[in-house]
Amino acid sequence: MKIFEKKMALQAYITPLKESKKSIGFVPTMGALHEGHLSLIKKAKKENQIVVVSIFVNPTQFDNKEDLEKYPQTFNNDVKLLQSVNCDILFFPSVEEIYDQNIISKKFDFDGLEHQMEGAFRKGHFDGVGTIVKTLFEIVKPTTAYFGKKDFQQLQIIKNLVKKYDIPVKIVGCKIYRETDGLAMSSRNTRLTKKHRKAAPFIHKTLKKVKKKFKTKSIAELTQWVQKKFEKNSLLELEYFTIADETTLKPIKSKESNKKYRAFIAVYAGDIRLIDNIALKTKKKKTAKI
Ligand code: PAF
Repeated sequence: MKIFEKKMALQAYITPLKESKKSIGFVPTMGALHEGHLSLIKKAKKENQIVVVSIFVNPTQFDNKEDLEKYPQTFNNDVKLLQSVNCDILFFPSVEEIYDQNIISKKFDFDGLEHQMEGAFRKGHFDGVGTIVKTLFEIVKPTTAYFGKKDFQQLQIIKNLVKKYDIPVKIVGCKIYRETDGLAMSSRNTRLTKKHRKAAPFIHKTLKKVKKKFKTKSIAELTQWVQKKFEKNSLLELEYFTIADETTLKPIKSKESNKKYRAFIAVYAGDIRLIDNIALKTKKKKTAKI
């Protein structure tokens, strides 16, 4: 595996590969890699001739200084994991290499997607994500880029970014990878205390129950039910629970058949903020038999 810290050196290596029509799969990460990341890289390997992974803890997408300072950094282990899945290229730039001396994000309009959920609770987060993802796409110029659906709002925003700026890259959303007890894999999970780690699978369990109840209960009933469940849980604090349209990410008040909805949740387990989501199914409209 080739490791590059400088964008010019990376581009000098990738440009001839692009010119010889090699497909480039790209998996942007913030490091502290886990099975979820590896599943994206394995998919990228299957579908491309060359796979690039970036590790960059992007300061402009953190609204919380402590979260940034304590973000897990496990570079040596990440390199071993990347080698184990035959990653071809690792891009590992410094903050100066990406931002020079100007560590601020650009302002984006993602057609309102940025104001919902994570956008409402983490001010400026998606401007930071937009800034770094656009910059990385300009450096790597991938054919296809892979993102996990745990950050479903991020995935929709990146699809919007690519369309708006006419960036020639295919965006692929990949299924959420979970621990055996259902907790969605996240680099932040390693920061959970023992008791919070034990409590955290409750999040996915609750979402699975929401999925079951979705066909028969109203949105208001489901929301109240989730709020009550978390009120009774002394280790997990609910920040938001929203049922939203998958495309617009706007919260819904009532269901329409044959539309795609998702339940989204953000929860504090002690100091650690965890997010998750689940696809919901409405009843299919019956088509009359003639
Ligand atoms: O999902 C992440 O790890 C980050 O938000 C990303 C896409 C690598 C941008 O920093």
